[in-house]
Amino acid sequence: MEYLDFAIDVARSAGGVLMHYMSREKQVEFKGRANLVTVADKEAEALIIKRIREQYPQHSILAEESGASGPSECGEGKWIIDPLDGTTNFAHGYPFFCVSIAFEQSGNILCGAVYDPLRDEMFSGARGVGSFMNGEVLRVSDTRTLRGGLLMTGFPYGFREKMRVVMSQFEAFLTESQAVRRGGSAALDLCYAAIGRVDGFWELDLHPWDTAAGLVILEEAGGRVTDFSGQPFSVYGKELLASNGWIHEEMLGVLAWVG
Ligand code: IPD
Ligand code: CA
Ligand code: CA
Repeated sequence: MEYLDFAIDVARSAGGVLMHYMSREKQVEFKGRANLVTVADKEAEALIIKRIREQYPQHSILAEESGASGPSECGEGKWIIDPLDGTTNFAHGYPFFCVSIAFEQSGNILCGAVYDPLRDEMFSGARGVGSFMNGEVLRVSDTRTLRGGLLMTGFPYGFREKMRVVMSQFEAFLTESQAVRRGGSAALDLCYAAIGRVDGFWELDLHPWDTAAGLVILEEAGGRVTDFSGQPFSVYGKELLASNGWIHEEMLGVLAWVG
């Protein structure tokens, strides 16, 4: 698929930018108390946008650092970009971050690429085609019970205002599952579910650039993604519950019980 090949190629180039800055002194700016941005975020995003403008001037763009740009009618298509998902990890030298690029048309996420440059792992997926890691077909885990499941989560930057709900969900899943991890990159969390390294993932208040590419990769690997009530997930929504499918109802039950 043309758009997927393009996303893969551009994600790999942007990963090169992240690797270049990884070993250098990080110049960190603050978008919020704990919300960071570095020169690597900005340069990787500039490279991605330049490539899209050259190749697809008719498409619009939604990128984390520069927002919406391009034609206001996005009937032709929209690229949704997180140039560096896991900025806090990156700024501290913690090795878990990626580039995420997705393509949306008429409200559907058609394809996406998530690239982890440290491990040289390229996750990709396209609707009706499947999902892959470095060319190998992806399939979710076969874990059938929440009690046997390894989960991931993340805490939204605004968690201080939502401490009670965030902590009650965390406590409930910690109690009901085998273990919970907090990776620090939602896009990679979704890909780790797609490849079966984890069985479920939930998080509040993510943005389209965190989830769009990972969504299609996980769904094409056989996973299920909804909101916290089991309703269809939207990348523009606030609640994300993702799983291998088998443990989804149990996870929904935990969220319903926590309230
Ligand atoms: C963040 C990461 C993190 C998640 C945050 C996101 P950023 O993205 O995906 O895992 O918990 O909610 O905002 O800021 O590193 O691009
Ligand atoms: Ca992000
Ligand atoms: Ca980011």
